[in-house]
Amino acid sequence: GFALSAQASGTSGSKSSDSSDALVFDKDAFTVLTTTITTDGGDKEVKYHFYKAITYVAKPVDEKYQSLNVSVPVEIDGTAVDATNAPILFANSVGGYMPSSVADATGVGGAAMTGMPGGGASASPSASASAGTGAGEVQSGGNGQVNAGGEMVNNGKLALAAGYVVVEPGARGRTLTDSSGTYYGTAPAAIVDLKAAVRYVRFNKGRIPGNTARIVSSGTSAGGALSALLGASGDSPLYDSYLKDLGAAEASDAIFASGDWCPITDLEHADMAYEWNWGANKLSTGTLVDQSVSKELSTAFADYQASLRLRAKGFGALTARNLDDYLLRTYLQPSATTYLKGLSETERSTYLAANTFITWDGTVATFTWADFLTHVGARKKDTPAFDAFDLSAGENNEFGTGTTQARHFTLYSLRHEKGGSARLDSDLPTKLDLMNPMYHLVKEQNPHRSKHWWIRVGTKDSDTSLSVVGNLAASLEQLGDDVDTLYYWDQGHGANTDAADFITWIAKVTG
Ligand code: DHB
Repeated sequence: GFALSAQASGTSGSKSSDSSDALVFDKDAFTVLTTTITTDGGDKEVKYHFYKAITYVAKPVDEKYQSLNVSVPVEIDGTAVDATNAPILFANSVGGYMPSSVADATGVGGAAMTGMPGGGASASPSASASAGTGAGEVQSGGNGQVNAGGEMVNNGKLALAAGYVVVEPGARGRTLTDSSGTYYGTAPAAIVDLKAAVRYVRFNKGRIPGNTARIVSSGTSAGGALSALLGASGDSPLYDSYLKDLGAAEASDAIFASGDWCPITDLEHADMAYEWNWGANKLSTGTLVDQSVSKELSTAFADYQASLRLRAKGFGALTARNLDDYLLRTYLQPSATTYLKGLSETERSTYLAANTFITWDGTVATFTWADFLTHVGARKKDTPAFDAFDLSAGENNEFGTGTTQARHFTLYSLRHEKGGSARLDSDLPTKLDLMNPMYHLVKEQNPHRSKHWWIRVGTKDSDTSLSVVGNLAASLEQLGDDVDTLYYWDQGHGANTDAADFITWIAKVTG
């Protein structure tokens, strides 16, 4: 893991209190910190300027969350670095659609880990199964990622050690309520906040160190979903009124590139996709989920998949009938192949002996979809996975509003509970679009989206359907974007086993 020894050795400048320049970045308001960052290339001693808890909107609702930290490297291993024109990693630490604050961080990569026992992700699928993501088991905060050895990885720290500027934004989240019990962090608050933070950075071009035309966002899980959404929805006018209400800076919120790990996204279609993928898998308790619900949802997935009108070379139209084969041949078998190639001969024989469903011809791994599903084993979530019938999923809270903590956001779950003629609340269709990158990519084909994408997910991650990443990547490829997609073999939720490659990729695409 990382050895962090942050030490304050400088003084903070004074901040202007003039409201007319409330959003002007004060380049003198930093503390000098030093830290040791462990990278694949060894430990790096980094001296950096740390700008802490800067409120990024003129009319904040909650400054604890609507503030960001900036870290600017000035010396790496004793050599001066000039980050004036360096890429900017915009690393959110959202987890579970929960509130995320950086206000109390004492240095780069130090976001608070709200309600996350163990402080991060699990490399293997959780042993627990429940209806969705209940409040008690939410993965929240800290952008928790683990490498192949199960150690914590932090993109922000690695980016700083590579000489990049690191911006870490906080954002409101679903559980926040005011004194009257009104929810003020539910959809679309988190994406609005991240956009406001991007606007703040771009507004401060020339004052804030780094190249504001080379903002690369990163995030994991709910944070990965928001990072993908930030990339897909750049400069969409749909968010304007929300941004105006917050007094967001007048600037573009389009970002250059988007890094997305295990994005929990396309939420209103995720229940269907989940059953299409994991419908036959049992829960960790050994019980099968309600098969009639599962079948109804997976049947409905076919219509949704067809509506995306995605195509892929060698597969034609991607449908619910060939999507398994597509994922298998495009991602899963190559993932296993890479994994097996990386093993020693002894390790490989041992692995293959324990996993006889894999045919290894010495060069490539092949297996069937059904055997792959058996290999993954227990599904993490009951059905429906996201819009829980009893409103217990975290996503039900994410679509809460006013003093209503949780709502249904799919017709299927709503009608299951309320009857066949029930309608979604009238604000929901728009809010779902505001939260869904697929809307901006497939429906809007947003020309201001990021054109460079880094997308990752573990093959054993059953927090959502494996089709979510597949469809996200396919929609981007169809638009002609530069997409680097990889499924990490046998890795679970929150894996980041090629973190150094992401840092190299940033240099490549921004250079
Ligand atoms: C996260 C995980 C989930 O399973 C989910 O439904 C939403 C968010 C997360 O880890 O951020």
